[in-house]
Amino acid sequence: MKHNDFYDVIFKRKSVRKYDLTPVDEKTIEDISTYMNTVKPMYENIKIEMKIVTQESVKSLLPIKAPYYILVSSENKEGYLTNAGFMIQQVDLFLSANGIGSCWVGMAQPKKGIVNESELEYVIALAFGNPAETLHRKDISQFKRKSIEEIRDTNGKDQLIELARLAPSATNSQPWFFSIDNYKINVYCVKSNFIKAIMYKKMNQIDMGIAICHLWVAARHFEKDLKYTFDKEEEEKSPSGYYYITSLIINE
Ligand SMILES: Cc1cc2nc3c(=O)[nH]c(=O)nc-3n(C[C@H](O)[C@H](O)[C@H](O)COP(=O)(O)O)c2cc1C
Repeated sequence: MKHNDFYDVIFKRKSVRKYDLTPVDEKTIEDISTYMNTVKPMYENIKIEMKIVTQESVKSLLPIKAPYYILVSSENKEGYLTNAGFMIQQVDLFLSANGIGSCWVGMAQPKKGIVNESELEYVIALAFGNPAETLHRKDISQFKRKSIEEIRDTNGKDQLIELARLAPSATNSQPWFFSIDNYKINVYCVKSNFIKAIMYKKMNQIDMGIAICHLWVAARHFEKDLKYTFDKEEEEKSPSGYYYITSLIINE
């Protein structure tokens, strides 16, 4: 199975919402589990768990009926939602690169007793299975996304930012903004109003991890090294209406 460079798949991946409900063969499930154990964290110090379950283990009111779900639970620590987004997006891209459909499902809830919530907090699910609709987009015009000018200040890092632009997000809200400073990309997330914040704050932070994952895939593709730092000065320079997430240092 393909698992090295997901650069190309970012230009064609899409959410798959219709599935063939017959089981995926065992070897494929095994390969997915093996890959899940190798995904890179954004923050090494946060404990996270991913568990593959079948449809019976999630509450049934979901609009997306898939044969499998990856249930994600994490230690609740600073940055845990962004870290979860970063890690699970690697799985989303792995599935898409290998002919398997997937879709993030913020609305999915595991049935009682399926995940052990004593230590870790349930975060989100990723539905997957053999697709019963087209797996990939034909070309970039089929993405509904903001223009690149709307999501960054200057064009110095467009080769990387373009991949973040194509990232999936809850309700396609695309909450990101990037300010480019020479060798650094400062990452910001839109502030929601009070009502929206109740619904979206958690999802937005997962979305930010997904976009950072796409930047990381792009940096690796162009053989650049990428490090995350918290830069107090950049936090203070947050654009109005946005809050600071992290700064990515790119070594050419
Ligand atoms: C954190 C997150 C939660 C999501 N939750 C749902 C969901 O509950 N139901 C659904 O149909 N799609 C869900 N989506 C999929 C988005 O609607 C989708 O990614 C977005 O519309 C962009 O479309 P694309 O993934 O096909 O490019 C979710 C996506 C993310 C990133």
